[in-house]
Amino acid sequence: MSMDIRTIAEEFGTPLYLYDFDFIVERYTSLKEAFAGQKSLINYAVKANSNLSVIAHLARMGAGADCVSIGEVRRALDAGVEKYKIIFSGVGKRDDEIIEALENDILLINLESEAEMKRVEKIAKELAKEARISIRVNPNIDPQTHPYISTGLHENKFGVDIDMAKWMYVYAKKSEFLNPVGIHFHIGSQLTKLEPIAEACGIVADLTRSLRAIGIEIKFFDVGGGLGVVYDDEATISTQEYAEVIIKATKGLDVTFVCEPGRYMVANAGFFITKVLYEKKSGNKRFVIVDGAMNDLIRPSLYGAYHKIETVEKEGEESLADVVGPVCESGDFLGKNVMLPPLEHNDLLIVHSVGAYGFSMASNYNTRSKPAEVAIEKEKVRLIRKRESYEDQVRLEKVCMEWSDES
Ligand code: LLP
Repeated sequence: MSMDIRTIAEEFGTPLYLYDFDFIVERYTSLKEAFAGQKSLINYAVKANSNLSVIAHLARMGAGADCVSIGEVRRALDAGVEKYKIIFSGVGKRDDEIIEALENDILLINLESEAEMKRVEKIAKELAKEARISIRVNPNIDPQTHPYISTGLHENKFGVDIDMAKWMYVYAKKSEFLNPVGIHFHIGSQLTKLEPIAEACGIVADLTRSLRAIGIEIKFFDVGGGLGVVYDDEATISTQEYAEVIIKATKGLDVTFVCEPGRYMVANAGFFITKVLYEKKSGNKRFVIVDGAMNDLIRPSLYGAYHKIETVEKEGEESLADVVGPVCESGDFLGKNVMLPPLEHNDLLIVHSVGAYGFSMASNYNTRSKPAEVAIEKEKVRLIRKRESYEDQVRLEKVCMEWSDES
């Protein structure tokens, strides 16, 4: 991406999220092409980066959406994702969310428990509709990733085990208001090993075959998301290898493959631009204090995640420093032990690979307004979310001066 970071920072202010939309196109194309010759649907996991322009950009190329709240379903629809390409997942869907999903006639509601299936059935009956459903199977596979983002083990809260899944499919098949057409699993995020994916696919493909044998026609084989990306020097899985293991494990099954990538699509497309406020020493420890913080980008604090940090047009003898924000928490850092030259007020730092789970996990902690978001596409720079103002933050609040029954 050719861009002048300083000019962009001056125009839009800092801290700032910057996304390379051309890179997102490359990512989508690479995954779609890996499934060439097969029926496939790339359902972007909206949670990774929920900005409407990001979703619209993917929708324009033909992507569907994987949503985990009715808010995300609305975002997908507003961004132009076709309703027959939207899947609604999540362990706890409220009645109003189920109603809206059914009324919008989306592709699939993904069920995660028997209780939820019965709830969806009841609501579908009340609406006189047939709910197209898939069931999230928990294949009990260790994805070999960070425990917080591992989801395919029985100790995790997601999905149902194989026996329960079978029982649910049989029940759904008999129900007038449920149409079981999909099967789903997702073993974790930031997957960098092929074996767990191949193993999970094999288990779920076997289940799909045994369901076929009893007349339950599964049309959508949803392998979830999870494709890992390079943050540091990880060896990752290529889209080609990924598609190959999936196709191999499902041999003989005539299904549409559904993938739900979030991180893979957008992580490396995102940059967080932050300005140096001060340098400070505490004993021998060097701190670079910047205007971005854990409320803007929580991955380093929450998961100990590594994000490469670079200076913009700054040279000099480098030494180790912690890059920290102004939030009142010791855990507020963007990087630890980063080699950096001496820095001054107004110097800029670029934090890399923040396009996924960056802005979408940002908060207003310490009454800090969320950063602006800017996209670059074919050299054109566009603001896709205004910087929040203090007024935006307090808009829904009310000052109660007297605590009385009337208020
Ligand atoms: N499908 C399901 C059912 C999921 O639970 C997830 C992510 C995805 C797809 C997309 O996964 P991806 O392709 O992005 O790996 N906040 C964490 C990641 C949490 C992922 C949650 N589920 C982080 O910053 O690393």
